[in-house]
Amino acid sequence: MCGIIGYVGYEDAVPIILDGLKKLEYRGYDSAGIAVMDDQGFSVVKQKGRLTALEELVRKSPIAGYMGIGHTRWATHGEPSDINSHPHLGSKNKIAIVHNGIIENFKQIKERLEQKGTVFVSQTDSEVIAQLAEHYYNGDIIDTVIRVTNALEGSYALGIMCIDEPGKLIAVKKDNPLIVGISDKGNFIASDVPAVLAHTNKVYYMNDKEIAVLTKDGVSFFNTDNEPIEKTPETITWSIDSAEKGGYEHFMLKEIMEQPRVLKDTINSALRSGENKNLLDSLDITRFNRIVITACGSAYNAGMVAKYVFERLCRISVDVELASEFRYKDPIIDENTLVILVSQSGETADTIAAMREAKSRGAYTLSIVNVIGSTIAKESDATLYTLAGPEIAVATTKAFSAQLVLLYILAVRFAHKLKRITDDQQEELLSEIAALPDKSYELFEHVDFIQKYASNCVGYKSIFFIGRNIDYAISMEGSLKLKEISYIHSEAYAGGELKHGTISLIEEGTLVVAISCSEKLYGKIYSNVEQVISRGARVLFIGNCIQAIPDDRLSIIEIPKVNELFSPSLSVIVLQLFSYYVAANKGLDIDKPRNLAKSVTVE
Ligand code: AGP
Ligand code: GLU
Repeated sequence: MCGIIGYVGYEDAVPIILDGLKKLEYRGYDSAGIAVMDDQGFSVVKQKGRLTALEELVRKSPIAGYMGIGHTRWATHGEPSDINSHPHLGSKNKIAIVHNGIIENFKQIKERLEQKGTVFVSQTDSEVIAQLAEHYYNGDIIDTVIRVTNALEGSYALGIMCIDEPGKLIAVKKDNPLIVGISDKGNFIASDVPAVLAHTNKVYYMNDKEIAVLTKDGVSFFNTDNEPIEKTPETITWSIDSAEKGGYEHFMLKEIMEQPRVLKDTINSALRSGENKNLLDSLDITRFNRIVITACGSAYNAGMVAKYVFERLCRISVDVELASEFRYKDPIIDENTLVILVSQSGETADTIAAMREAKSRGAYTLSIVNVIGSTIAKESDATLYTLAGPEIAVATTKAFSAQLVLLYILAVRFAHKLKRITDDQQEELLSEIAALPDKSYELFEHVDFIQKYASNCVGYKSIFFIGRNIDYAISMEGSLKLKEISYIHSEAYAGGELKHGTISLIEEGTLVVAISCSEKLYGKIYSNVEQVISRGARVLFIGNCIQAIPDDRLSIIEIPKVNELFSPSLSVIVLQLFSYYVAANKGLDIDKPRNLAKSVTVE
């Protein structure tokens, strides 16, 4: 998920790799490392923390080589630590690798190798790649890489060096980005263009399972049958700044677009294999008679959505509390209460305080966190990790979406353990969740429409969001997203509550965004839409069961059909895009909105 750079050529690899890692810093990381190769073998320097610390270490104990690989790590398996940092070597010190991504079947591979006597030193999933490569190595590194990748499930971008094949830098990828850069002074691999842009603008984009073999004089590509393949390099014309954002204008848009992938990773981690799945399998819900979800901002909104899903499926009462309020309200919780803490950063001061309050009253604390090794992950009784990767834009998008799917899966698994749903129902619900990544991808067809619609919304002073039940919960997130990045005042209202106050604010031309993903409630929300239109409002109607006909007051965005309990995962992407384009049309600093911080570590 983070950064890889590799170099083989005529110059010392160390400064080139350190500089490349700096160019990848924007992707976020918790550790960094570098391995170079020369005639004596590998030299490795790696540690937890910032790149400047790595540079300092390299300055104190210099290393050099004509070929090397570097890595910035965003921990997914095993906490950030020196030993878990990449590169990883096999036990025989013959093969060194850097890996971005997640190996879903690492436990099985690890157990197999351990039975054969391999000793693992780290807790990472990545180490199995180096160990397996050494295990398979038969004098032909390409053949070895093919066998290794055939054995791996999950996602990877890999840089590989082998002591027995000096001068060859190997790269291969699946579902994670990797490029090859070529120049007269040597050749490069990298996760992203900015890492090589100082040296070359000629790059090859690697496709899944293609293998690149780089030497100082050239690069050749092979398919999974070890046959050579032809590829054509592209010439990059981007500036460094836009290259960092993958060609998008802002990180927020890049992160919105990453969501199908993030959903897939997170769902797989909970349903197929890994720590999330193990925890979900072993967690005993039957001892809890109450669930409290506590969090701040968007994470709180994820809790609001989850309340509907838990209550509907588990028939257990759920309270959602703002973390900043919870700690001061003398909460009614005890050892039979499950307290779920939701936090992207795992460092939000209010949520940390709520967790400590809950623990002090004997509750069991389960956190849903994106950052491994963060305070909430460390202190809570158990943690489910969202696999969103580092989120750079202040306004959360992909981490929020990953929180939602973990909460759905938790609710389904709990409902089954509580015998509220049958095996078949569990199966069906989980397969609907597993279909969300592909359905979310379909939403991007609406980008042009949303962009155009949003361009007419920049003049608003206030925008309202309405929905009913779970659609109301997700409209709260739509409203927060809009106000934080566009500085337009907005409010989310339960459709039926409009007539009790807010409707007095509706006047000629007011914009109301309405969500409708519940067939059962369609008639109700449509009445609310009519009520506001008859008072002069324009309505943007987003949903998957809309029967109305669009006209000059009513615009409709159809989203794919899905169980209404999981529909917020789709409607929210439309809401994020809408907010993004309104703010973009206003020319605002979208990734760093005024007065806001990515992680609020003060009370
Ligand atoms: C969301 O876009 C906000 N930036 C903010 O509300 C955020 O969700 C909140 O501060 C909680 O942060 P956390 O998930 O890191 O705990
Ligand atoms: N899953 C690997 C780890 O936790 C790689 C993480 C990354 O992509 O940075 O070490």
